Amino acid sequence: MKSVTKAILLVGGKGTRLAPLTNRTPKPMLKVAGRPVTEHQIIKAREAGITELILATSYLAEVFEPYFGDGSRFGLSIKYAVEEVPLGTGGAIANAAAALNLADDDSVVIFNGDVLSSHSLQNQIQMHLEKSADVTLYLTKVTDPRAYGCVPFDASNRVIDFLEKMENPITDTINAGCYIFNSRSIKHIPRNTVVSVERETFPELLRNGAGLYGYLDNSYWIDMGTPQSFIKASRDLVLNPELSPATQGVKDEALIGEGVVIDPSANIGGGSSVEAGCRIGAGVVLWGSMVERNVIIEDGAHIHDSFIAENQKVAANQIVSNQLIG
Ligand code: GDD
Ligand code: MG
Repeated sequence: MKSVTKAILLVGGKGTRLAPLTNRTPKPMLKVAGRPVTEHQIIKAREAGITELILATSYLAEVFEPYFGDGSRFGLSIKYAVEEVPLGTGGAIANAAAALNLADDDSVVIFNGDVLSSHSLQNQIQMHLEKSADVTLYLTKVTDPRAYGCVPFDASNRVIDFLEKMENPITDTINAGCYIFNSRSIKHIPRNTVVSVERETFPELLRNGAGLYGYLDNSYWIDMGTPQSFIKASRDLVLNPELSPATQGVKDEALIGEGVVIDPSANIGGGSSVEAGCRIGAGVVLWGSMVERNVIIEDGAHIHDSFIAENQKVAANQIVSNQLIG
């Protein structure tokens, strides 16, 4: 069986619900456990055998290339497909695939750029190849499926329907945002047109009798749609570094950047991350929180489950709980 070595990351969305965090940084470039979300995905893809990857960018497209370059620093080849006007998830796939020179028997892994998971991409690829599927979707279960794509499937894992964002969901099994498409299904998407893969491509493929399969994996999965889920993702990865091979350097349940000055009486943990150049005063408690570069936290401040943006100052003895600062 031919292996799958090509991938597309959809990183062009605006991340409106994550504002103000996304005013200057596109959502996929926000750091989780010290690394951009995209970097976690790239390392995951590489470990599953991907060697050639396209970043499908649009909003703030210019920030990706200076960081990821040609990919050699990450051990694979990275190219960029920029949409002047956002083409939607389907249009983005068609546009990016043009840069991949797909052979007829190629398949491509596609990631939504704002999800992190510890699911086995290798097993998903294996199912795709074994079933000779047109598309294989990674599925997970959630308690409230309304914000997601509902995906019912039968006993042989064949997908029966795809229902994006239903008010009354018919199943708790949802699209977890990582697909494998064969070449034929990608070529089915019209080019240079705005297309939603969820609302148009999947339903159409199903109507045409294409073989869509669901790979259900209930290991760790998180969608970073809101500031709270984004802080949670970082906390989860710092507390459980094994969830993502890109998480490096965790000590005592915290990730501390270069040149951070910490008073010995400060208590930092619970999955916190502190970026380079910060100063943390005496008696400070910093728990389950994210602190960007060059932040000053004065003596006695208590910070829980919060996000402090770069160059901010938290005043002495201030209590910060569940907040975004800056
Ligand atoms: N290049 C490009 N161009 N990327 C795009 C565009 C576009 O026009 N529109 C969206 N994206 C990217 C976003 O950056 C994001 O990474 C991904 O496509 C999905 O878009 P979202 O806007 O985050 O969709 P969602 O969260 O409402 O729903 C999607 O994800 C759920 C799982 O988290 C759907 O795929 C649901 O079916 C799914 O359950
Ligand atoms: Mg999303």
